[in-house]
Amino acid sequence: MHISIHYLFIKASLSGIAPQAGVRPALARDRRPCAYNARMTKTPTLPIEVRGSAKHPLGMSPAQFLRDYWQKRPLLIRNAFPNFTPPIEPNDLAGLACEESALSRLIVHDEKRDRWNVKVGPLSEDDFSKTPAANWTLLVQDVDKWDADVAALLESFRFLPSWRVDDIMISYAEPGGGVGAHVDQYDVFLLQGLGQRHWGISDDPAAPKDFRDDVELKQLKHFEPTHEWLLEPGDMLYLPPGVPHDGVAFGGPCMTFSVGMRAPSRAELTGDLADYLAERLPDELRYTDADLTPVKAPGEIDRATLVRLKQALPFAAALDDTLLTDWFGCFITRYRNAQVPAHPEKPLTEAALQKLLDGGAQMLRHPWARTAWAKGKVGATLFVSGHAYPAPAALAEQLCDQRVLAFDKKPSVADRAVLLALINDGHLLPQKPRRR
Ligand code: SIN
Ligand code: CO
Repeated sequence: MHISIHYLFIKASLSGIAPQAGVRPALARDRRPCAYNARMTKTPTLPIEVRGSAKHPLGMSPAQFLRDYWQKRPLLIRNAFPNFTPPIEPNDLAGLACEESALSRLIVHDEKRDRWNVKVGPLSEDDFSKTPAANWTLLVQDVDKWDADVAALLESFRFLPSWRVDDIMISYAEPGGGVGAHVDQYDVFLLQGLGQRHWGISDDPAAPKDFRDDVELKQLKHFEPTHEWLLEPGDMLYLPPGVPHDGVAFGGPCMTFSVGMRAPSRAELTGDLADYLAERLPDELRYTDADLTPVKAPGEIDRATLVRLKQALPFAAALDDTLLTDWFGCFITRYRNAQVPAHPEKPLTEAALQKLLDGGAQMLRHPWARTAWAKGKVGATLFVSGHAYPAPAALAEQLCDQRVLAFDKKPSVADRAVLLALINDGHLLPQKPRRR
């Protein structure tokens, strides 16, 4: 493959760009497991395949597409972009893949041994000269940021909020090339640009989503397509998040333009909102307990604590009490800890613990082990220096209450399991009884 230096001049006009920390070059879209969209039910009256036209690239009005397909079910649009000619040449894509700040990957599939080799860019001419005759693909993300002609494709997606659009990723593949069966967390429009690509998808909501653990790519262990199509230039496949799919270049060189949508996870939204709010809260606004009355069980995180917490965190008021307690228990026993106990060099065995207890051993709580506990629906949770241990309530209370633990009656099996875990995490130090 000849590599064009076309992008050098674009680069010059993009001075000052730096890859954002934490931006992960993805092969296809982010492929973490997700719950299949529950709304994606099969409705026999809605076709999975339609024909588009210059006037209707979606084969229907945007309103109809959004109502019936968007985030709900896959749709193949034949002839979505009539007489489509790719706005970028394969050689220019390869040239871009060699740019320092472009996100690119070269994936070669050894079909016989089913091994996948992934080379992360920036790529070099040498990488391309070593590619086999078939079964490889090049993927470059964010091509719309580098190439105005590619960016112009986004005009056709103006019916979506512009901030939902992430990027246009382009793949170039030789016959047999692809990234393997996977699921994406994104809505994606896969526009066939050059040559043909065979697509298999599964619209079965119960399709398994577990990953192969022998491949660096997050490929599906099992994939049974419910639909298969051969896409020609101008055909476009829309996939909502969570639909297993596999696209393989067929017959000759193949380019696919994948318009991916940005959809932050709830975890990302929550994390960022928490940071945002935290930055705006003055230091003097704190957890307060001016209403405190003498406590009976000193380590307990009780109902009154939860009420005070919800006053301090009004946006957390709707959270489930167990979740809030669990978080607070871990947080408060980790908060302002200068040290954490180290693990013992050699873990104690159950038999050795039994022997120690039979011999009347006491347990010293490590001075740096900070503890709390909370009653649960069954039993309790003991929190020690940021860790949660399910524990019998009486033992949890005793552990928080006493610096040195002695046992009047034989600890139960459940007690011993907690004691062993705490000893092996370094929070409890067994003291052999002194010989008289
Ligand atoms: C995708 O499956 O998301 C796109 C992969 C490709 O273009 O090869
Ligand atoms: Co994909």
